[in-house]
Amino acid sequence: MSVREVTVAIVGAGPAGLATSACLNYANVPNIVLERENVCASLWKKRAYDRVKLHLAKEFCHLPLMPIPPSLPRFVPRVDFINYLDDYASSFNVELCYNRTVESASYDKTTGKWRIVVKNTEPVLGEYEAYIAKFLVVATGENSEGVIPKVPGLDGFSGEWMHSSLYENARRFVDKDVLVVGCGNSGMEIAYDLSSNGANTSIVVRNPVHVLTVEIVYLGMSLLRYLPMSIVDNIVVLLSKLRFGKMSKHYGIERPKEGPFSFKEKTGRTPTIDVGAMDRIKEGKIEVLPAIEKIKGDVVEFEDGEKAHIDAIIFATGYKSTVRNWLKGGEDLFNAQGMPKESFPNHWKGKNGLYCAGFSRKGLAGISKDAVNIANDIVSSYTFDNCH
Ligand SMILES: Cc1cc2nc3c(=O)[nH]c(=O)nc-3n(C[C@H](O)[C@H](O)[C@H](O)COP(=O)(O)OP(=O)(O)OC[C@H]3O[C@@H](n4cnc5c(N)ncnc54)[C@H](O)[C@@H]3O)c2cc1C
Ligand SMILES: *[C@@H]1O[C@H](CO)[C@@H](O)[C@H](O)[C@H]1NC(C)=O
Ligand SMILES: *[C@@H]1O[C@H](CO)[C@@H](O)[C@H](O)[C@H]1NC(C)=O
Repeated sequence: MSVREVTVAIVGAGPAGLATSACLNYANVPNIVLERENVCASLWKKRAYDRVKLHLAKEFCHLPLMPIPPSLPRFVPRVDFINYLDDYASSFNVELCYNRTVESASYDKTTGKWRIVVKNTEPVLGEYEAYIAKFLVVATGENSEGVIPKVPGLDGFSGEWMHSSLYENARRFVDKDVLVVGCGNSGMEIAYDLSSNGANTSIVVRNPVHVLTVEIVYLGMSLLRYLPMSIVDNIVVLLSKLRFGKMSKHYGIERPKEGPFSFKEKTGRTPTIDVGAMDRIKEGKIEVLPAIEKIKGDVVEFEDGEKAHIDAIIFATGYKSTVRNWLKGGEDLFNAQGMPKESFPNHWKGKNGLYCAGFSRKGLAGISKDAVNIANDIVSSYTFDNCH
């Protein structure tokens, strides 16, 4: 097995890994990024549906040291964001090691270093490499793997089903009865996409959810700079009521009792940003249904006893972190679900040179903060080590 010694090993070449590497390069700290796919930003290049745009205005989405070009629209489309990330990686000379799946990482007390074992998946499948690093940055994402809930009878479902991360567009679903499960951003946007492109679409909504517009979120985020969260929450809910009215009456959807920003802080669940699905629900073009009870053949039964013939199910039921599958130790930093134990802003640093970037549930703005904090922290101990 080949062994390579590096100062900092970063796992994952999404925005979090790229941002951390850029900040380290800027400070002349040697580092590499290990990525299982053959591209950077794979979530955006391979796992996002065609019509996706950044939901947040661009001033909340840039990475450290490089603004998003002023020529781009306030809500940046997917391709432009991908170009920005590619530019970012090359501008800061990020050293990307592709086709490298990290299978384990453990801390060696005697050397005081991390040993990272990587499977090289291309061009020589199955070849292993080891990397020895003083610092290990986990940047594998909150969204590493799609979650599909256990549904009785799903195995025997005669139609097609998939996780939302594999949904590309409505082409295959024209004239089909399609059920979308989940009313987060992915679920509502996919339901809209299906319904406005010829699929007979229904959506399962199980929990209360805040539905806002991009403009309301933008206003709320801007106000948060000057006003306390409770006041901003009240303003935002008022605007949502003006826009959508009584949600349970018109849409069959409940609002949570807490306001959107406090709800997000408490539960980690982001408000859903409407891209047009709400109007289609109100017009009766998208049907809102309760949780699935069971599936028999091509018939889905719901909790209220209703039954419907369904050709395809898209599970927009979220993602999970997978760091626990490969990281040995690090219990000081991560819980059993692979999310930080400490809450924001104390979530990013563990013991023995272990860090995590991109796990604060605060989107790209949170990622930028993590990258800067981690790089500064490494710079101070690295410089210190080198002078003594
Ligand atoms: C559909 C969708 C839309 C979103 N829209 C927005 C938005 O508008 N604004 C916003 O702020 N946030 C948004 N987000 C949040 C999103 O999580 C961030 O934008 C961002 O992509 C997360 O970056 P990351 O680097 O933490 O993780 P990721 O982008 O998921 O990158 C992690 C990388 O690690 C790699 N990896 C995982 N495991 C291993 C392993 N064992 N070995 C090697 N490599 C590995 C993966 O292949 C991946 O490339 C959205 C998320 C989704 C799913
Ligand atoms: C990664 O794999 C792809 C094929 O999937 C190949 O074209 C590319 O050269 C590989 N990159 C590295 C760095 O091995
Ligand atoms: C659309 O799907 C629903 C089930 O979700 C079904 O009740 C309805 O009959 C379907 N409509 C058409 C026109 O097929």
